[in-house]
Amino acid sequence: MSLSPLVFALFGYDELAQKICVKHNYEIGNLICHQFPDAETLIKIHSNILNRQIILVAGLENPNTKILSLIYFAETARDLGATSITLIAPYLVYMRQDKQFHPHEGITAKYFAKLISYYFDKLITVEPHLHRIHSLSQIYTIPTHVVYANKDIGQWILKNVSMPILIGPDEESKEWVNAIAQITNAPFVILKKTRKADRKVEIEMPDLKAFVDYTPVLIDDIISTGISMLETIAHLKRYNLHSPICIGVHGLFIDNAYEKILLAGAKQIVTCNTVIHASNLIEISGF
Ligand code: R5P
Repeated sequence: MSLSPLVFALFGYDELAQKICVKHNYEIGNLICHQFPDAETLIKIHSNILNRQIILVAGLENPNTKILSLIYFAETARDLGATSITLIAPYLVYMRQDKQFHPHEGITAKYFAKLISYYFDKLITVEPHLHRIHSLSQIYTIPTHVVYANKDIGQWILKNVSMPILIGPDEESKEWVNAIAQITNAPFVILKKTRKADRKVEIEMPDLKAFVDYTPVLIDDIISTGISMLETIAHLKRYNLHSPICIGVHGLFIDNAYEKILLAGAKQIVTCNTVIHASNLIEISGF
């Protein structure tokens, strides 16, 4: 009988790794990521992984600082005899540059996929930013599994918000805001968003006067600089609705976005436990 997978965590994702172990009856592994005084790193895998399947749980936000440790983990695990290495990256980075938007640019989604596919045998992630690329298999050459957040977000809204009106910030959010609307039995609107620059978007919002008694629930897959949420909140103010609740699957909160969104008038900001943050009130059940 083959042994169950051994699960390791990097970059502080130990709690999620523990939860996955408990749920599936997997064994937790022992790993040290040693940093030398000159900032070079050495991965030491203390568990015996010879002929074992292993799983690495690693949040990849802020990827450029992490990628070498990730590669060293995979190389070390192979050298020590692991038979397969699955990467659980709850937030899949480098998915937004999924086409050449302007001349002279590359497609980093493709290059990052090539790198991960080289070092790992399988990828599991949550709600990747799939738009112009429709499936991870278009860019990843290893098996991939996508965990969806719809049900968990829908259940959170059902439990915590009375009379919600769901607001999707852009056309790309339509499908999954629609799915959450089915679960919550709530009305929804989809806005038109045009991104002018990294920190500048323009939003067009339909007339929401009819929803004056509702609580707006803004739902986006990623809250990065928060500018999409901030612009939406600014537009909502015209309609005198209740203070909005902002939900992001992956909360990156660049440039103090969390504080800015609250200052702008959000009643609450809630995220899924895919990027560690105090707003992680929605636990992904599908791992
Ligand atoms: C964009 O396509 C995504 O779905 C998010 O709307 C975007 O990443 C949010 O970024 P920001 O918080 O910087 O507006």
